[in-house]
Amino acid sequence: MPLAGRHVVLGVSGGIACYKSCTLARRLAEDGATVDVVLTASAAAFVRPLTFEALLGRPVLASLWEKDRALAHITLAKEPDLVIIAPATAHLVARAAMGMADDLLTALLLARTGPVLCAPAMNDDMYAHPATQQNLKVLAQRGWQFVGPEIGPLAEGPSDRPGRMSEPEAIHAAAARLLAPPGPLHGKTVVVTAGPTREHLDPVRVLTNPSSGRMGFALAQAAVARGADVILITGPTDLTPPSGVTVHRVETTVEMQRAVEAAVPQAQLLLMAAAPADYRPTVPLSTKQPRANGRITVELEATPDILGSLNRPKQCVVVGFALETGDGLERARGKLREKGLDYIILNDALEPGAGFEVTTNRVTIVPKRGEPVRLPLLPKRDVAEKILDAVEHTLS
Ligand SMILES: Cc1cc2nc3c(=O)[nH]c(=O)nc-3n(C[C@H](O)[C@H](O)[C@H](O)COP(=O)(O)O)c2cc1C
Repeated sequence: MPLAGRHVVLGVSGGIACYKSCTLARRLAEDGATVDVVLTASAAAFVRPLTFEALLGRPVLASLWEKDRALAHITLAKEPDLVIIAPATAHLVARAAMGMADDLLTALLLARTGPVLCAPAMNDDMYAHPATQQNLKVLAQRGWQFVGPEIGPLAEGPSDRPGRMSEPEAIHAAAARLLAPPGPLHGKTVVVTAGPTREHLDPVRVLTNPSSGRMGFALAQAAVARGADVILITGPTDLTPPSGVTVHRVETTVEMQRAVEAAVPQAQLLLMAAAPADYRPTVPLSTKQPRANGRITVELEATPDILGSLNRPKQCVVVGFALETGDGLERARGKLREKGLDYIILNDALEPGAGFEVTTNRVTIVPKRGEPVRLPLLPKRDVAEKILDAVEHTLS
């Protein structure tokens, strides 16, 4: 919970992405932050203050002229650890760059000397306009941090240029990164593997497994939020990688092995959350096999054991994952010893809410020395935090 106990002002200006700010406000609060929302008049036309008040249980500020909060533009500039503006409209960006102070949000931005994180969101032509680009440059020179905008569909239709606001999760991660006290992972290189791999039987048929990549992506996100330089090596998945992470996409187990071998010499921590295919056809076919009635036999051979064959640097803490069915603790301990791991994370593929394709997981953290720690059923992002909490001891 990198934001626990921190005070955040969430400034919301009047863009169509305002509806996502509700999710962001909630996410920041769930993470333990005290969130004060400040709306521009246009933002209040998109989302009623009541929505934020109900989500946060705190009053929302939308005017310089609130009777009981006459100096809110100063206190809300000075007190918070971070001011986030999401969405930041072209108009808000222009007013802030000009040093205008004609409403509560711009007045507090003018009085602000601490960190500001800005998530621009607008039509792609508005974003590309030299006026907007100039204003953003001015703000960056003054020390503002930015997250996005991304390339993706806009309210008015598809787009292949930046303009779309980053997702709340990415904004939350950027905020967590900015506020993270330098812990043991700060500045360390962390390599994470995620997702399944695929082995081709022929050009159109594959052997794979239902791994979604969520656990690895959650670990990458949690590590980057703690200030690590994260290299995410992922098999095929539909997930959007967390921002601030270097992504290598691979398809087969051998490709994943090569990517891990290339990345690991610089790493201080390796988190092997991928589910690589264990077998591949001995002879993959170069053309599509036509369907035939009756049986076919495909001979399979084992793919390389990425961890087993890894030449790991001495300084690198290695965490493996074991997906077992039934009581797998002894098998997991065996793998931990055989592969020389520092930790193994055991989960049970048959337990409801755990393993592949779900957003939650129930794991047991098994260290090389000491007792295993069994965690309750938790969202994968919380499991990721707990795993990093455990592993950080070894790093420090
Ligand atoms: C439906 C609708 C959607 C809009 N979406 C955006 C947007 O995504 N980004 C933006 O910069 N302006 C957008 N605008 C224009 C702003 O609302 C307008 O520039 C307003 O003055 C912004 O005020 P504020 O920056 O004080 O909140 C939109 C306007 C409307 C009517």
